[in-house]
Amino acid sequence: MVARDNREARLPLELVKVRRSVINVMYTKTDILEADGPGLARAEEVLRGGGLVAFPTETVYGLGADARNGEAVARIYAAKGRPTFNPLIVHVLNQRDAAELGVFEGPAMDLAAAFWPGPLTMVVPRRAESGLAPLVSAGLPSVALRVPSAPVARDLLSSFAGPLAAPSANPSGRISPTSAAHVSAGLEGIVDAVIDGGTCPVGLESTILGIDGDVVRLLRPGGLASEQIEQVLGTDLAPPNSATITAPGQLSSHYAPHAAVRLNVRSPRDDEVWLGFGPEARGATLNLSTKGDLVEAAAQLFQHLHELDALGAPIAVSPVPETGLGRAINDRLRRAAAPKVETGS
Ligand code: TXA
Ligand code: MG
Repeated sequence: MVARDNREARLPLELVKVRRSVINVMYTKTDILEADGPGLARAEEVLRGGGLVAFPTETVYGLGADARNGEAVARIYAAKGRPTFNPLIVHVLNQRDAAELGVFEGPAMDLAAAFWPGPLTMVVPRRAESGLAPLVSAGLPSVALRVPSAPVARDLLSSFAGPLAAPSANPSGRISPTSAAHVSAGLEGIVDAVIDGGTCPVGLESTILGIDGDVVRLLRPGGLASEQIEQVLGTDLAPPNSATITAPGQLSSHYAPHAAVRLNVRSPRDDEVWLGFGPEARGATLNLSTKGDLVEAAAQLFQHLHELDALGAPIAVSPVPETGLGRAINDRLRRAAAPKVETGS
């Protein structure tokens, strides 16, 4: 007889259901594909069949599915164990394709021209005739669109020739993956294929903006610094209004390592491993950037968190300045340090 899994006894009913749905999609053989012609052809075939393919973008690895296929999109939620239907980002090849799915006006046009392809996502009104599965936006009247710059993501989008829904390719609430090995560690046996395209150069998820007429709101700081966006807009970014805080990335516990995380630490305790930043963090177990470079630190952040988490000790983190990409780094670190709840993206 199979022993009852008594871990379920401690979970709320909703999570038990999700956990079981994850178990149901488990034991798929996961193909690790090269980022070459045959690898991409296989990935395309899996996507056309409604399957899941993890692929590298410049920010993090995404867990991709055909955004027009409701069942394929539902599989994303099940594979990640997302406890609720939080909306997903839809990836397309260019601004023209984006404009077929969402309404681009005013500042959205300027921002697309300035920053696409690149680590920027814009939430815009969704077109009624978009053909997207409603589950992609979790039933909201808006859609989050992004044009990635990573060559492998672009090759996949051009061979698939359609929109790909893709959240970060990690189990819900855990650290985002910046290598194919991270994806396999979290989702092996759950996703159909992983395209191994090496390490993601930006290393932080995209910056998400909500376009609300002429008002542009910062929904999630990310791999494109707010200062650069504000320069193009000629005004400051607005904070999210309460109606737009529907993003799980906005929930406090997120990007969570298994270990406890303590922030703004200049001298760690003996029982802690130390994630340093800058030249003053001498003796750190790992340093985000010994020269104190925020771009390098962003690119290293999740890789270092994955590595330190594997050591099984509490993690102390050096202070990181709150400017440029430092804002997004600190946002992810605060979520990693927050008390854990079973939700996220
Ligand atoms: O860099 C990235 O953005 C990566 C790569 C794979 O592109 N993707 C990513 O996706 O980080 P995900 O699902 O982990 O985070 C997407 C965020 C979520 O917080 C979600 O709630 C928000 O985008 N989002 C998506 N659609 C939205 C909408 N219509 N309104 C508000 N927020 C939305
Ligand atoms: Mg995520």
